[in-house]
Amino acid sequence: MTMIDVNALHLAFGAVNVLNNVNLQVRQGQSFGLVGESGSGKTTVLRCLAGQYTHWEGNL
Ligand SMILES: Nc1ncnc2c1ncn2[C@@H]1O[C@H](COP(=O)(O)OP(=O)(O)O)[C@@H](O)[C@H]1O
Ligand SMILES: [Mg+2]
Repeated sequence: MTMIDVNALHLAFGAVNVLNNVNLQVRQGQSFGLVGESGSGKTTVLRCLAGQYTHWEGNL
């Protein structure tokens, strides 16, 4: 079963596109490592999933 399903996630802060077509799936029992340089958007993806941001586009 897919527990986390992120499809075509986009988010901008003003004119700055921070997330551009983020896609990831995590199935039940799986772990997922989200790796990237500082400022690449890792925390922003999780904040979208947690409901802290609501101005994203795509499917969660
Ligand atoms: N609330 C916010 N308002 C404006 N810009 C933001 C906000 N949160 C994050 N950003 C910007 O979005 C980008 C991604 O940040 P972030 O998701 O924190 O990266 P990471 O967690 O990968 O270090 C950075 O350029 C950051 O400055
Ligand atoms: Mg972070």
